[in-house]
Amino acid sequence: MSKKILILPGDHIGPEIMAEAVRVLEHVNARFDLDLELEHALVGGAALDAVGTPLPDDTLAKARASDAILLGAVGGPEWDNVERHLRPERGLLGLRSELELFGNLRPALLYPQLAAASSLKPELVAGLDILIVRELTGGIYFGEPRGIRTLENGERQGFNTYVYSESEIRRIGHLAFGLARARGKRVCSVDKANVLDVTVLWREVMTEVAKDYPDVELSHMYVDNAAMQLVRAPKQFDVLVTGNMFGDILSDAAAMLTGSIGMLPSASLDSSGRGMYEPCHGSAPDIAGQGVANPLATILSVAMMLRYTLDKPEAAAAIEAAVSAVLDRGLRTADIRAEAETPVSTSQMGEAVLQALAG
Ligand code: NAD
Ligand code: IPM
Ligand code: MN
Repeated sequence: MSKKILILPGDHIGPEIMAEAVRVLEHVNARFDLDLELEHALVGGAALDAVGTPLPDDTLAKARASDAILLGAVGGPEWDNVERHLRPERGLLGLRSELELFGNLRPALLYPQLAAASSLKPELVAGLDILIVRELTGGIYFGEPRGIRTLENGERQGFNTYVYSESEIRRIGHLAFGLARARGKRVCSVDKANVLDVTVLWREVMTEVAKDYPDVELSHMYVDNAAMQLVRAPKQFDVLVTGNMFGDILSDAAAMLTGSIGMLPSASLDSSGRGMYEPCHGSAPDIAGQGVANPLATILSVAMMLRYTLDKPEAAAAIEAAVSAVLDRGLRTADIRAEAETPVSTSQMGEAVLQALAG
């Protein structure tokens, strides 16, 4: 039976990087007889401009009906002043929440060829292989009440609610421990239990979950220290599990260890393994339209889709090997090049990955 893949390019560099990822996806579709059917839809600012909402009903219906989703990136300064509930980012958050994509996997893996592009000394990042497991449908991103209100004295006050229920913590915990079991067998849970009640509960529940995984070692760390340790000695980590906002921040920091945010893919999974796949970076309005964005995070997100949702590990491995071969050849987009090197464009990088796949 054919499988449906929904393509959501989004805004700014979203369509540029997506074009390359789709070429790669179509190539492996044919080569490995995957029987994938690709559909396209609008999300984010592109959808807001076209039909007045960042998550049109048609897009959500197609998303529900698909086996997996590939998303570029959404947002941009031209939508900074639209009503808050219409912001492009709400389209992305709506998809995550409507589809219950609670488990966000963000692997920070250093390709050895890029050791010089890392912001840390090569010896600190050689062999780096961290998996950040970020809770994606709860926490302060979704807690109620939220909003901006006017106080009696006429002053405005903005507020959000940081809330996690036990069941939300437990399910992200099980996901992280299950993944750790298949790799380095160490989970570090990141919280702020010295200050925030919600993360006191987080720590308690993680400790309970750990009892089901006696072969996996659990440690706890405060988020401020975790941010420091990530740039001091990142190889101490195997799997990091944390809430929505801390995971957002720590994964951007971890991305830079691998050379560029343009290298970091992600998977957002529901409890059945269905997922949405996207680069960790945003729509990069500062470089959009120039053909210079790095498409590898999106191409590597295709590999994650093949591995986690479609169960096609050979096709995933072929893409990852092709990316590695291209880096071996010395091809670099501007974000990962050394100063003396001439960068390749977004489409040249995509083309090179295709050639490596075919060759
Ligand atoms: P950003 O990740 O878009 O860009 C940060 C910096 O990284 C910029 O200098 C950008 O040029 C660079 N960069 C990002 N991706 C790159 C790539 N593939 N190749 C080369 N360089 C790359 O973050 P921002 O500037 O804070 O946000 C811009 C917009 O993107 C905002 O509207 C934000 O809300 C949105 N955003 C969307 C997503 C998403 O759709 N998943 C994620 C993050 C931010
Ligand atoms: C990400 C982004 C999103 C987030 C925004 C665009 C809603 O930064 O995917 O990392 O904060 O989750
Ligand atoms: Mn982010």
